[in-house]
This record gives sequence, C-alpha cells and structure tokens, in this order.
Amino acid sequence: MAEKIIFATGNPDKMKEIREILADSGLEILSAKEAGITADAEENGKTFEENACIKASAIAKLAPDAVILADDSGLEIDYLNREPGVYSARYLGEDTSYQIKNQALLYRLAGVEKERRTARFVCAIAAAVPGKGVFTTRGTIEGYIGWETAGANGFGYDPIFYVDAYGCSTAELTREQKNACSHRGNALRAMREELVKRGVLER
Ligand code: IMP
Repeated sequence: MAEKIIFATGNPDKMKEIREILADSGLEILSAKEAGITADAEENGKTFEENACIKASAIAKLAPDAVILADDSGLEIDYLNREPGVYSARYLGEDTSYQIKNQALLYRLAGVEKERRTARFVCAIAAAVPGKGVFTTRGTIEGYIGWETAGANGFGYDPIFYVDAYGCSTAELTREQKNACSHRGNALRAMREELVKRGVLER
C-alpha cells in the first residue's frame, strides 16, 4: 500500500480538488512543490495521455518511492477538428489572455448552429507507481460552445463552455457542482478506482 501521493502540479485549485476526491484514502497528498521537487518536462506529446505520462515519469525519476499522479487537460471543439486540444494552454500563445482566446473561438464559430458547436473538456491522469509502471485514466464532460461568454467562476475556457444538464456555462457552476461532473473529477475518480483495483489504495 502506498503512503504518499505526489501530484505533479503547481496549480492550487487542482490540489484542492484531488485532496477532496482522495480525502478518505488516508494518504498524505503533496504537490510536487510541497515535496520539494521541481521537474520541467517538455509537454510535447500528441495526446493528453502522453503528456500526463511525460509529467508523471519526470517526477517519478526524482521521487522513485512515491506514487506520482499527473494530469493533462484541454478543450476539444468538434467543428474545429478538435482544436485547441492538447494545445489548449498554448492556443494563440501561452501569455494571451483567456478573454482574447475565448473571443477568438466564438468568432471562429460565428454562424455555426448549435448541433455543430459540440465540444468537450478532456482530462487524462497518469499514475507512476513504484514496481507497477505507468497507467492512465481519462475523464470527459460533454457540452457545446455558446454564443457569448457567461459566468465568473472557474478559469480558462469555462465562460464559453455550456452544459445542457445545467443550462449554463461551467463558469456559472459552483465549485462543488463543477467538481461533481468535470472531466478532471471524472478522471480522478476513475484513477482512484484503478489504484484500488491495482492494490495501491485500500479504498
Ligand atoms: P493543463 O492541463 O493544466 O495543461 O491545462 C490545459 C488547458 O486546458 C488550461 O490552461 C485551460 O486552457 C484548459 N482547461 C483545462 N481544464 C479546464 C477547465 O476545467 N475549464 C476551462 N479550461 C480548462
């Protein structure tokens, strides 16, 4: 059984979410920074899974006794051949604001009817487990790109991503509502099950 999990992120929101989902596992959950590790792996994979594995493996080399988790996520818009996909953070440049990125995507979908505005957030989580290799899980949330931005919660592409079940954008959901249905929440819950199945976690 593992005693410690290191999550390869510097993002405090992701840390909060993973701690909530693994809360009753009884494990110590640290960010890479809290574990005193910095690894700058180049995310040059072609899929979310590849990038998550690159990140997890880079940290695993520096902390070979710990269970390492890493994620990679992004937005796929069907009408744009699944762009921005693995380039979501880099779309129009890493330093470009999401206000500009979101407006650009709305512009590219101008005049496109709802049926063809389908999109999804995707998240892949990779686990590097001592003696058990590296494996991944995937979570998604299906929705569509709206006609205007709405909401002030969340981050990134949330203000243009609408979910029919809620009738609003994911930037209008509370944190709890989003965690319950998000791609990251779904991938994390699947990873939790996978870790139990492989005997890494007790429950
Ligand atoms: P990363 O997984 O931290 O590399 O993030 C990839 C990028 O995908 C983020 O910078 C956002 O642009 C986008 N993204 C991933 N998840 C979400 C989400 O839940 N809401 C909005 N944008 C997201």
